Amino acid sequence: MKDFSGKIAFITGGASGAGLGQAQVFSEAGMKVVIADIRQDHLDEAMEYFKEKNADVHAIKLDVTDRDAYAAAADEVERIYGATPDLLVLTAGVNVFGPAEASTYDDYDWVFGVCFWGVVNGLVTFVPRMIKAGKGGHITSTVSWGAFTAAAMVAPYSAAKAAVLNLLESYHLALKPYGIEVSALCPANIKSRIYETALNRPEHLQDTGYNVNEKTQEFLATIHAHGMEPRVLAEWLKKGIENEHFLIIPYPSGPRMVEIELERFPKYASAEGMKQLDEIRSGPPSEEQLKMMSEREGYEIKPGPRTIFNTDSGFAKARQDLDWVDQSKKV
Ligand code: NAI
Repeated sequence: MKDFSGKIAFITGGASGAGLGQAQVFSEAGMKVVIADIRQDHLDEAMEYFKEKNADVHAIKLDVTDRDAYAAAADEVERIYGATPDLLVLTAGVNVFGPAEASTYDDYDWVFGVCFWGVVNGLVTFVPRMIKAGKGGHITSTVSWGAFTAAAMVAPYSAAKAAVLNLLESYHLALKPYGIEVSALCPANIKSRIYETALNRPEHLQDTGYNVNEKTQEFLATIHAHGMEPRVLAEWLKKGIENEHFLIIPYPSGPRMVEIELERFPKYASAEGMKQLDEIRSGPPSEEQLKMMSEREGYEIKPGPRTIFNTDSGFAKARQDLDWVDQSKKV
């Protein structure tokens, strides 16, 4: 898609962070924009901004895990703008950090519910409508760098994002014949309010195995304060859509970063490779890796052990009553 003017965009999570940046950039490119978000306060705040700009933006309160509500939202877009969206941006997401071994069903159901099933619901709701409309279009999702990495401290999120990346690649192959391009935006740190989500879980999914508290939020807020500006990220997305890249890595060294990250896979398949991986992981990052990590995280990462998972903030610790999460049992 090269021409955005007059077309319709539907953006989930569009009232905050990455999604709000996308709504701003696509609205400025002349699109009619629908922002769909679970938080009424985020929607109100965003709409205040768009009303002031006189922008053609419509807000829908939507929980992306609610399939009936999703269908109703798609009907509402057709009623308001007389057509199905040309650009579908699936950005709504949540995250929480904690040891994989402490993860509960609620941790998985919550993170997968929004990050994975929320994307599936978007695809199942809109793909048939977009194909029927016969006007082509573009579908994208704000995935994450986490899709490329496995992490002992953020397992449900990384797994959900890896699944989304794979899913999008399948849709990229499937929808090309219909003139619908598909892409995956994979940023690392973004300046956003995602750190708030761990304390705002739905009532029925509160049983976490992680030690999440106010200090956790404060600590995460300091990390995200260094993140990429959402509007800058949205410009990368727009350029990627214009250039029809499947993978949109929002950094100058993006393709090389992916290459380095994925080098581990062939190594996992041999004894020599496994040994190399142990050595790499126990040693300091190379200069090239440090440079790229700094580019990705938005601040200078110095040589030395990574301390991000070892703070006293409760970040990445297990709930205290989980007696099987016991350091002394580690060999
Ligand atoms: P954010 O919290 O500022 O914005 C996310 C928006 O999604 C919020 O307005 C929230 O109310 C909404 N949302 C949450 N659950 C929802 C649901 N069930 N239905 C509808 N809306 C819902 O966070 P951010 O960082 O802008 O997150 C956007 C996306 O970017 C997420 O998918 C996240 O995983 C991804 N991401 C974020 C990174 C970061 O460093 N913040 C890094 C890489 C990816």
